[in-house]
Order: sequence, then C-alpha cells, then structure tokens
Amino acid sequence: MKNIAILCSGGDVSGMNAALKRFVEYSKLKGMLPYFVYNGYEGLIDNKIKKADYCDVAGIISRGGTSIGTSRSSRFMEETFREQALKNLHALNIGYLVVLGGDGSFRGMQKLSDMCDDISFSGIPSTIDNDIAGTEYALGVDTALNVIKFSIDAIRDTASSFGRAFVIETMGRECGYLALVAALTSGAEMCLIPELPYDLGSYKKNFLKQMDDGREYFISVVSEALNNTEEIATWYKSELGMEARIMVLGHIQRGGNPTVHDRLMAFHFVTHAIDTLLEGKKSTVICYNDGGFDIKKIEEVSFRGSKISEELLSLGREYGSH
Ligand code: F6P
Repeated sequence: MKNIAILCSGGDVSGMNAALKRFVEYSKLKGMLPYFVYNGYEGLIDNKIKKADYCDVAGIISRGGTSIGTSRSSRFMEETFREQALKNLHALNIGYLVVLGGDGSFRGMQKLSDMCDDISFSGIPSTIDNDIAGTEYALGVDTALNVIKFSIDAIRDTASSFGRAFVIETMGRECGYLALVAALTSGAEMCLIPELPYDLGSYKKNFLKQMDDGREYFISVVSEALNNTEEIATWYKSELGMEARIMVLGHIQRGGNPTVHDRLMAFHFVTHAIDTLLEGKKSTVICYNDGGFDIKKIEEVSFRGSKISEELLSLGREYGSH
C-alpha cells in the first residue's frame, strides 16, 4: 500500500483543520500511512513532509486557519521545482496526494499530475471566494459568510444609532458571491458586485424617497473586485448629504471558529477524496452540487470561469429598485 499526503495551498479557510483531522483518521482506517506537507507547494519543494498521527490533529477541529500552514508558491510554476517536489514524494513512497485549495492550486496539481504516472491526486475546493467552476460550494464559505454577517449586524447597530451610511467591502477576488450573499442575508440596502451592472441614479432616487419617509441610515456591501469603496462613501455625502464610513472587512473574513457546516463538509470532502484515490482515479476534484458530491476531472473545474447561480443573481438584480 502506498502512503498518502495532504497539503493546503493558497488562502487558508476555516474548516481546513477539520479536514486534516478527518484525513489522518480516515486514511489510517483504510490502512494507509498519512503524511502532512507543511506550507503548501513550497513545503513540497523543500521536503517539509512529515508523518502525521492522531496527536497532530487533537484539538484542532475548532480552530480556523490550517495547522500545517499554506503558501502561494511561484516556484511551483517552474518545472525544475515540480521535479524536486516529485522526487520528495517518491522518496517517501507517497502515491496519493490530497490538495486543499482554489483554482490556482488545482492548476498546479494538474501540472504535477501531468509529470508522473505513479501518483494520484485529488483536490478539495477550499476558498472563501466560492469562485471555483464546477462546484457550488467550497470549504470555508459558510464560516466566512457568518463572520461577515456578524460584522454587518454589529455595524448596523452603530449606523442606526448615528444616522450614518456604512460602505462595507468584502473579499472575493474577482467574484461577487460573498458580497451578494452577505448583503442579502444581512438586509443591506445596496449591493455592488462585478457580475451585475448597477445604476447609482436609481439608488439615489429610491434612497431619497426612503429618507423622506424617515430612513436615517443605509448599509452598502461592495465587492473588493470593483475597487470603488471610497467612491461610494463619497457618493453618500455628495448625493444624499449623509455622512458615511468605510469598513474594509479584510482578512477577518478568512479566520474564526469554523461553523458546523464547514466542519461537516470538511469530513465529507476528505472521505470522498480518499475513496476516489483508492478507486484508482488519477486526478480529480471533489465537487458539491445539488445537495450531493460528484467527482470531476481537474480540467472541468480549473481553467474555466465560475458563475454565480441565476437564482442568486436574480435576487441581486432587485437591488436599487426599492
Ligand atoms: O482567495 C482568498 C482571498 O482571501 C481573496 O478573497 C483575497 O482577494 C485574497 O485571498 C487576499 O490574498 P492575501 O491573503 O494574499 O492578501
């Protein structure tokens, strides 16, 4: 039986530690020897690969981030460093590698997979951006949304007390998913995301009417992709005569105690990844769609733009109209 390893790559997410715990427990249950690769692809190149056991995962399930570290590796883009990484895996008789990460991490995984026949790879979508094509859900999204919800609920308290507008910027890279779901579920009055055109003129008309009716504050959620947070804050002052404050949520969205949903999803993702590897599939990504898990080839997931569902977008289109 070949040995099995796991690594985290790219932005960390809450739920990675739950995945590491499941990885150790389930691979041992299947009679394999589990290994941790520390610091993502960087650690794979530098041979930071160590045997993992129950004691390494005790007590980590409730912690955000990843106890084995992560990285964005530019060296891994170069073939010579990938050859070094393969040499390190071969030296430890590692025949299976599980990669937790996003689109870019899977592209790296595909490149490594193309360079060898005797190691199989399985990816687990893990990014708060929820921007991976082929899967409706990526690990960490629920926790990030709950952190945002908590923050917006708190900001609403002070916004309403002071009669101010707040412009809250969420992460998501090029994708507006986090901003849209956060705005909807926090009852924000404005939501701006790259996937939907918006008309500030129409917002102005509606907001002025609401102010006439006694409205004293507004909450706007804007996606970092639009890079217009300051512009919107200035707009509140110049167009509505309302004082505005900016709140860039930043990396707080990536941390925190993982939700029950993310802990459970971590368990399922890892179970499917290991089962898929043992079934002999060479390079796959475990996806979650329509309430169930499905296994896709890397090229069906990476190298393609992701899309927010039409159902969510249609809710987003209502913004600015009332
Ligand atoms: O991909 C996750 C993410 O948090 C994005 O939402 C954000 O744009 C980016 O990573 C931030 O990257 P870094 O942690 O390198 O600043």
